[in-house]
Amino acid sequence: MISSNDHASSPEISKTTSENVILVFGATGQQGGAVASALLADGWSVRALVRDLKAPKAREKASLNIEVVQGDFNDEASIRSAMTGVYGVFSVQPSSGQGAAYGVSDEDEVRYGTMIADIAAQVGVSHLVYTSVNAAGPEKTGMGHFDSKSQIEAHIRSLDISSTIIRPAGFMELLMLPGLGLDQDAYVSFLRPTQIGQVIAVRDIGKIVAGIFSNPGRFAGRTIEIAGDELTGESLQRSLSHAAGRPIGYSRFPDAVLKENEFLRRLTALFDDGRLAGHADIGELRREFGHLLSFDEWLDGPGRPLFEAAQNASSSAIALR
Ligand SMILES: NC(=O)c1ccc[n+]([C@@H]2O[C@H](COP(=O)([O-])OP(=O)(O)OC[C@H]3O[C@@H](n4cnc5c(N)ncnc54)[C@H](OP(=O)(O)O)[C@@H]3O)[C@@H](O)[C@H]2O)c1
Repeated sequence: MISSNDHASSPEISKTTSENVILVFGATGQQGGAVASALLADGWSVRALVRDLKAPKAREKASLNIEVVQGDFNDEASIRSAMTGVYGVFSVQPSSGQGAAYGVSDEDEVRYGTMIADIAAQVGVSHLVYTSVNAAGPEKTGMGHFDSKSQIEAHIRSLDISSTIIRPAGFMELLMLPGLGLDQDAYVSFLRPTQIGQVIAVRDIGKIVAGIFSNPGRFAGRTIEIAGDELTGESLQRSLSHAAGRPIGYSRFPDAVLKENEFLRRLTALFDDGRLAGHADIGELRREFGHLLSFDEWLDGPGRPLFEAAQNASSSAIALR
């Protein structure tokens, strides 16, 4: 379902909204897409704000019975219009961590995230869920796209609105990026052989957010670090080899690569000091939200196409960024 979000001339949005509508930002992306699917499955009406109504991913959302409205984080009026009358809001922003080509600065991210929260409070949204990152917190990390999220979190907490902040671990999907050596059976990543790092399947972010919206009173005011599994370099090697049906080598990013790539070096240092490793209580999360995928289950299930593609991709450069 595609609706016009012509805020200058049309007050129709508020007529079509109800207690059942949740506005999902980033629905054409990973987290927002998973959230939209999980909310639909739970019986919510979903409204998605997209930049281009004609884009294939926007059309795909519309075909799933999602109300798709046009808007942009740089157009405050479009955000206000899309939010009018909704029950809940799921807030996610792109970040500088996605690379310069994406064109989003840390300042942009903070501006988008705080604006969405401000408008949600002003128009009387009943519950806001904001997705941050596990490394966020009161102490700066020195990585702009993490510290931006700490700033947005603090702003949300200062507002008079019922909200929940989730802090996801690294996505399992991220482990399948080209350039990490799966095509050469020699995988490289952040972790030393016995060093622990938590991860989560994007699908489970959707499941958790839907769980929060199903019982907002229970989750209001909480900041919840989320993960579905805990890996080490050794367990990564075992899981990837098992899923591939042949031995896959593993090593941590070589020093030469870290020396050359400042972004990777700083991320790796945050794993080493524990701040990106994750401290989610996975047992408690499973009690609250149901089963969350282990990395092995993800590789055998929703992650299989990405795993196959990563094995067949031929690339030598590390594309993390
Ligand atoms: N990768 C990880 O392991 C990890 C872990 C924790 C947190 N994060 C954080 O997750 C966030 C990204 O989430 P994601 O991976 O779900 O994003 P994603 O898949 O890259 O999708 C980004 C979404 O934002 C929308 N968007 C971009 N610019 C917009 C604008 N100006 N106005 C309106 N919508 C806009 C895009 O819509 P279009 O279809 O219009 O492009 C798309 O739906 C980042 O802040 C990142 O730091 C990542």
